[in-house]
Amino acid sequence: MATAASTTSAAVLVSRLLRLSPRLLRRLSVTRAPPAALASSSGRLLPPLARHPLGHRARMGHTAAAAAAAAEPALGLTKPNAVEPPQVTFSAKDVEFSECKGDILVVAVTEKDLSKDADSKFENAVLKKLDGQLGGLLSEAAAEEDFTGKTGQSVVLRLAGQGFKRVGLIGLGQNAPSTAAASRGLGESVASVAKAAQASTAAIVLASPSEIQEEFKLTAAAAIASGTVLGLYEDSRYKSESKKVHLKQVDIIGLGSGAEVDQKLKYANDLSSGVIFGRELVNSPANVLTPAVLAEEASKIASTYSDVFTATILDVEKCKELKMGSYLGVAAASANPPHFIHLCYKPTDGNVKRTLAIVGKGLTFDSGGYNIKTGPGCSIELMKFDMGGSAAVFGAAKALGQIKPPGVEVHFIVAACENMISGTGMRPGDIVTASNGKTIEINNTDAEGRLTLADALVYACNQGVEKIIDLATLTGACVIALGPSIAGVFTPSDELAKEVTAASEVSGEKFWRLPLEESYWESMKSGVADMVNTGGRQGGSITAALFLKQFVDEKVQWMHIDMAGPVWNDKKRAATGFGVSTLVEWVLKNSSS
Ligand code: BES
Ligand code: MN
Ligand code: ZN
Repeated sequence: MATAASTTSAAVLVSRLLRLSPRLLRRLSVTRAPPAALASSSGRLLPPLARHPLGHRARMGHTAAAAAAAAEPALGLTKPNAVEPPQVTFSAKDVEFSECKGDILVVAVTEKDLSKDADSKFENAVLKKLDGQLGGLLSEAAAEEDFTGKTGQSVVLRLAGQGFKRVGLIGLGQNAPSTAAASRGLGESVASVAKAAQASTAAIVLASPSEIQEEFKLTAAAAIASGTVLGLYEDSRYKSESKKVHLKQVDIIGLGSGAEVDQKLKYANDLSSGVIFGRELVNSPANVLTPAVLAEEASKIASTYSDVFTATILDVEKCKELKMGSYLGVAAASANPPHFIHLCYKPTDGNVKRTLAIVGKGLTFDSGGYNIKTGPGCSIELMKFDMGGSAAVFGAAKALGQIKPPGVEVHFIVAACENMISGTGMRPGDIVTASNGKTIEINNTDAEGRLTLADALVYACNQGVEKIIDLATLTGACVIALGPSIAGVFTPSDELAKEVTAASEVSGEKFWRLPLEESYWESMKSGVADMVNTGGRQGGSITAALFLKQFVDEKVQWMHIDMAGPVWNDKKRAATGFGVSTLVEWVLKNSSS
């Protein structure tokens, strides 16, 4: 594998470059336009992450451009603050809740759990005991606050003279959680009551733990834990003041104890840190998170987990050598140069049974290009999230760097760039040539994601992988079809569809399979080139998927995930981290663990 620059360790290279003057750095830069005004941040995008020394396997062709960009302040002089993501220790215990001590005891109750006997006492054993211990305070409070156990309801009491400073009831609705999504929801509610109470230590107990199926207990414990961490997390790196997270220790009671569940809880923490990393990448604005900074963040993952990762970053020249005309066409208008990012995960013992690739759309901003996004509802101001696919890819990489599954090799591939407008940009009507030799007539510059993915998919196939999943905020049409919380899935492989469905049942993320209707390819034909890049409004997500299929070897099992809806939470006005959990589960299912 060729690298863009030297094979010197990135730490050495970057630190050498950073000692140079900014003027010299600009001269070293390979950007076509002077990057001064548009250059990126200090490279401290995610300061809370531990910086480990670079290992010998971190092989990064870090370009001078990336280093120069990292040394310049961002447009608008914005620098993210160093905010530690929540660090919570989870312990699974099989003890009586009355033996626990701490700041808050959270009891998860179903509507049924609240039923009372003839003496107006709780029938449920846990609630009865607790209410007795509290002299009837619990039943009084539940009645006065009209707490009926509906999903998301909660009531919290301040206590005196008890092992706990507070007790909280959280509603589960009609049934105890039986899915990962419901368990995650419980964890989020725990986070919100713990936050409000400024609790440092908490214990979670279910009023009816026996309602949870034995074989689901491990998944439930892990999903409660990750829901708690993700619920605690608020991205305040770009606010001048940040709220402190107090919660440090959480006991999960009644879902088992011992090595197996402890390992699951560690997994939940590793996974959550990947989801948070993915959210932070998407939340970062395009003036801070340029393609160079995204490449730097990816390189940092490789150096932090250098026992399992190597990184290769290709600059424009290298991409030209590889004939990536489709990707470079999209990147051509931008003053921030493209960076093609490739991380490779290999297990520590080197034994590989499966080889996978995960490819993500990495448009750090999508203006639409000459077909500029205009008019109400075009969401141009949200188009920093157009690298959501790449955030899922690197979030998964970060989690897997900690989990270190055996028996599987994974390639993480992102053709990062911006879709901008300038005299050097791609015009509607231009014909570009992708790295597999196919020619594309550009009938809409706003259908850019597929153009970058085309070359990324060809590159992924050249790694000799058996299976590829790509993730992309690819079409507005998919949001119209499936709404804001469900991703569209396209694959010719029923086997791969099954694998990802199984993974999504553990992750709690929602997917819906849509057809790769070959007859719709008709609308993608060009009079002068092999194809056009858009086929009109009808079935827009399907024609986009059919376009991608042109760049995938038939021998390779391939899936395309359109995550344009679920990348963003409109209510929270923040990224979701969508995709990370399912990808990690999928890789684990393909590992020998
Ligand atoms: N990044 C957008 C897709 C998108 C739009 C995601 C809205 C989330 C919300 C993509 O690059 C795009 O612009 N797609 C076009 C395709 C069209 C020109 C065929 C779209 O969906 O409008
Ligand atoms: Mn677009
Ligand atoms: Zn886009």
